[in-house]
Amino acid sequence: MTMQSLTIRRPDDWHVHLRDGEMLRLVAPFTAHQFARAIVMPNLVPPITTIAGAADYRERIWEAAGRDFQPLMTYYLTDESDPEVVESGFNDNVWLAAKLYPANATTNSAFGVTDIRNLHPTLERMQWVGMVLCVHGEVTDPDVDVFDREAVFIDRVLVPLIRDFPELKIVLEHITTAEAAHFVRDAPANIAATITPQHLHLNRNALFAGGLRPHAYCLPVVKRENHRLAARAAAVSGSPKFFLGTDSAPHSRHAKESSCGCAGIFNAPYALESYAAVFEEEGALDRLEGFASEHGAHFYGLPLNEGTITLQRAENDIPERLALEISI
Ligand code: NCD
Ligand code: ZN
Ligand code: ZN
Repeated sequence: MTMQSLTIRRPDDWHVHLRDGEMLRLVAPFTAHQFARAIVMPNLVPPITTIAGAADYRERIWEAAGRDFQPLMTYYLTDESDPEVVESGFNDNVWLAAKLYPANATTNSAFGVTDIRNLHPTLERMQWVGMVLCVHGEVTDPDVDVFDREAVFIDRVLVPLIRDFPELKIVLEHITTAEAAHFVRDAPANIAATITPQHLHLNRNALFAGGLRPHAYCLPVVKRENHRLAARAAAVSGSPKFFLGTDSAPHSRHAKESSCGCAGIFNAPYALESYAAVFEEEGALDRLEGFASEHGAHFYGLPLNEGTITLQRAENDIPERLALEISI
């Protein structure tokens, strides 16, 4: 008999964009409704690069989402990052991790890192204090095909990084390829990855289904079917190296539906349901709890959440639009 409901420990989202201002007030409640905690990405304009900036942003998130929700802040690494600042923010419990955006790899990454060697003193310090490095793993070299940017990043940047900092805890964010899934699976225990719902549901045909589909566009871009299947296999494998990170990334409608549309998929309202659908299709519902509620906390060295969440099986028509009006 098919299960009609599933109760799991309250989950966490290990990669989300909550934005700021009006957008923050609109989107944060969706994440707070499903998740106890979330790693909040720092790619605001301007990015989060100071302790005061991160602490203020956390307050604004609490205002928008309620105190029941715990935002876990991140620091945006730049060429000018100062190891002292990065360590102080970590020791003072202002941020939990630092985020590496290769310069111009994705939305709001213009202040990102132009050469990873500029970060070596900071990475050395992070390795020493046990602070996690979250990575947007794509090279930006225009000569590299956009579909190959993640696999090339692993060879050119990640492998040397792990060689230079063998104890550094690294999360390869939003993996999209068989290369990434296999690399992380076979790497030492201090290397992990998040996986989004869209990379489990969509392959690159979705971008062109009957026309150009801006709402299926995110970075790293969705790949061929064999890569989607590899991401699925990793997610449902039960390996503690893979955990939930929605990469929910809202943009205003005019920014998505444009001649040069922004990268990012807003998935927060149905995030857990879409993961559950995947785990069910793969016959692995018994592993959803590990992926959603345990592996990430273990990796970050945080306690598991108290309490549970129950999913009910039901037909669910995902609305084409939500009645959220934003004035920008
Ligand atoms: C994210 C965003 O819009 O901030 N977009 C995306 O396509 N994933 C940035 C990111 O996570 O790379
Ligand atoms: Zn990213
Ligand atoms: Zn992201």
